[in-house]
Amino acid sequence: MPSAPQLTARPAGRALTGTVRAPGDKSISHRSMIFGAMATGVTEVEGLLEGDDILATARAAEAFGATVERLGEGRWRVTGQGGLKTPASVIDCGNAGTGVRLLMGAAAGYPITATFDGDASLRKRPMKRVTGPLTEMGARFDWAAVEDRLPVTVHGGNLEGIDYLQTVASAQIKSAILLAGLNATGETVVTEPEKSRDHTERMLRAFGAEVGVEPLNLNGGGEGWKITLKGGQTLTGTTVSVPGDPSSAAFPLAAGLIVPGSVVTVEGVMLNPLRTGLFETWIEMGADLTIADERESGGERIGDVTARHSALKGIVVPESRAASMIDEYPILAATAAFAEGATVMRGVGEMRVKESDRISLMVNGLRACGVRVEEEAEGFIVAGGPVRGGATVATAHDHRIAMSHLVLGLAAEQPVSVLDPEMIATSFPGFVEMMNGLGAEIV
Ligand code: S3P
Repeated sequence: MPSAPQLTARPAGRALTGTVRAPGDKSISHRSMIFGAMATGVTEVEGLLEGDDILATARAAEAFGATVERLGEGRWRVTGQGGLKTPASVIDCGNAGTGVRLLMGAAAGYPITATFDGDASLRKRPMKRVTGPLTEMGARFDWAAVEDRLPVTVHGGNLEGIDYLQTVASAQIKSAILLAGLNATGETVVTEPEKSRDHTERMLRAFGAEVGVEPLNLNGGGEGWKITLKGGQTLTGTTVSVPGDPSSAAFPLAAGLIVPGSVVTVEGVMLNPLRTGLFETWIEMGADLTIADERESGGERIGDVTARHSALKGIVVPESRAASMIDEYPILAATAAFAEGATVMRGVGEMRVKESDRISLMVNGLRACGVRVEEEAEGFIVAGGPVRGGATVATAHDHRIAMSHLVLGLAAEQPVSVLDPEMIATSFPGFVEMMNGLGAEIV
């Protein structure tokens, strides 16, 4: 019988050193394709993440009537028709939650019909969190098999703006509502008691739309804001320079922190404060993490981040930070396994509805590697100490689970293997080559 595909990370045994460039940010890459397709005229993108998730969104943009051309590495041109057209076939969003949820919002604003589907993982993820508010705005959804799960057909058009209070801090929900709101009558308001990443708001402005943002006056001084968008605004094509993805930069930086003697620099990392919760957390844990050459690029702060091997200590991660690092808890957990003392991660129930149930997958994977972990309904606690490794870990086809355990294996006592690692290409094509270029042995 052919063996299942897997990758193995061997304990590095020597320092990792070097300077690398993070792949383009996944959130901004998806949005550049979607906004480009909705806009009138040409959008030129540089630094696009050419991962499988984004390629699926690029194909979707074409299916909705845009012309999408690859001009060179990371350089793409999208020529929009000033609106989306009914696609000829089913829109397959692959593994991408961001792709499907933002596209559903965009499509709902036009008088078109489109059916969305995805891979086995995406078919398990909840969609009503987006179709619920879009239905309130006037769109109609037909579930092909099970309510709340793909495949689903949207019948769009004739929308009215809504005033929506977010109960989960989710940029995907907010973005779907705002994109639909562009083509609704009246005003669309999204109130976020806890801020989520603001790439949609920033990019809407770059494409010529007006978006209002006001701080929320919460009792006890909360951190939220209220976002307002008038309907009937059009988007105009523009240039988009995609910064490096902090969620991907996290993996080589984590390896730098846990492999003795290492010094790893990742250049051009986006430093949007709604995305840097992991960096703050690592610094609180005692990480020697420094940022150099902070600059502005494409409307975002970027900088070169260096991680040096550090003696980490466990901390209680503030729950209020969850939204700014929701994709980073798996790699945080892997580094926490090497810390002195326990790292407590709570208020992260959203991890259970990502590409996999990431709490359960990390708990099982870390335990298999000899790490003591306590699982809770909405969180987990990782006890630090020497990490044995010597396990083959299930990833449920989740890119971040695979990369987190491979990084763990570089500093463990024995090699760590991961099953089904091909999904790494959804967000980080070239991950293995990059890590091995720094001195790792992942084969
Ligand atoms: C994303 C938002 C996050 C994140 C995802 C990308 C985005 O999801 O997990 O990888 O680009 O808006 P939620 O906003 O639903 O938490």
